[in-house]
Amino acid sequence: MYPRIRFRRLRKSQKIRDFVSETSLEVKDLVYPIFIDENLKKKKEIPEMPNQYRFPLGQLEEPINELLELKIPAVILFGIPSYKDSIGSSAYAKDGVIQKAIKEIRGIAGEDLIVIADLCLCEYTDHGHCGLVKNGKILNDETLEIYGKIAVSQAEAGADMVAPSGMMDGMVMAIREALDKEGFTDTSILSYAVKYNTVLYTPFRYAAESGYKFGDRSTYQMDIRNSDEAIREAKADIEEGADIIMVKPSFLDIIYRVKTELKYPTATYCVSGEYVMLKAAANYLNEKNNVLEYHICRKRAGADIIITYYAKDLARWLQEK
Ligand code: PBG
Ligand code: ZN
Repeated sequence: MYPRIRFRRLRKSQKIRDFVSETSLEVKDLVYPIFIDENLKKKKEIPEMPNQYRFPLGQLEEPINELLELKIPAVILFGIPSYKDSIGSSAYAKDGVIQKAIKEIRGIAGEDLIVIADLCLCEYTDHGHCGLVKNGKILNDETLEIYGKIAVSQAEAGADMVAPSGMMDGMVMAIREALDKEGFTDTSILSYAVKYNTVLYTPFRYAAESGYKFGDRSTYQMDIRNSDEAIREAKADIEEGADIIMVKPSFLDIIYRVKTELKYPTATYCVSGEYVMLKAAANYLNEKNNVLEYHICRKRAGADIIITYYAKDLARWLQEK
């Protein structure tokens, strides 16, 4: 074949390389996570996640306007309530932190921002688990009813999408039924369908105050040794009515399999542990190039949507090119 086939022809200049590139990372792919803390009076940096903040209610104008200026299309919201109990009742309270935050953001951004509400119990329960607990066990079916209530309260407040992250079996179906019953047939479900049990969520648990008081999450989150199981999880969620499926953390092989085997809108979450690894690596290599490459690889693997704490930096870097 050589010398007739010369791969270097299409690598000759930046113009040609851009022209033939198969993948592109764009600002429209990005989702930025925001933490809203009901106990705060002013914004506070999260020590475990450098350059990330918790914001108080009533002061969301600054972070939201920044996203609008950067043309980031979507936010995902996490709430830290002032009151926790065993059933996480402030997760579905009409005047709960997340319900208030959704309304405030709608007031600032109107329809210019897609508002996604994370839907879980761990920030709202005193034991810190994603489901109801009885005799040290995390209950499945009893939890579903509460998820339905949370979904309806978030939709009522004005969320475009709810994002259940608790990994209870049947959660998507329960939420779909609850939403439809109340007339919210157009509220989408972005399901954390494939969520692994990993140390990579550690910084987030400080950020969102969602750490558990006993045990761990291994009876509901996936074992990292499994990949076929990811396909089964994602398939089940699609059948139950998920509109978008998420792979979390952003494991490349799993993104690739889910996208190529299921051909469904696929999101991935570059989680807090990935964020701090990238931050730490910035001591040894060029942060911008590394972070751009890291996220482009997630797109190449098949992700349509990327939730990332680097969304704002990425938007700036992509726009300066
Ligand atoms: C809670 C939830 C977690 C994350 C998103 N939602 C943590 C967990 O399951 O303990 C992790 C996000 C991150 O690490 O950035 N259900
Ligand atoms: Zn949870």
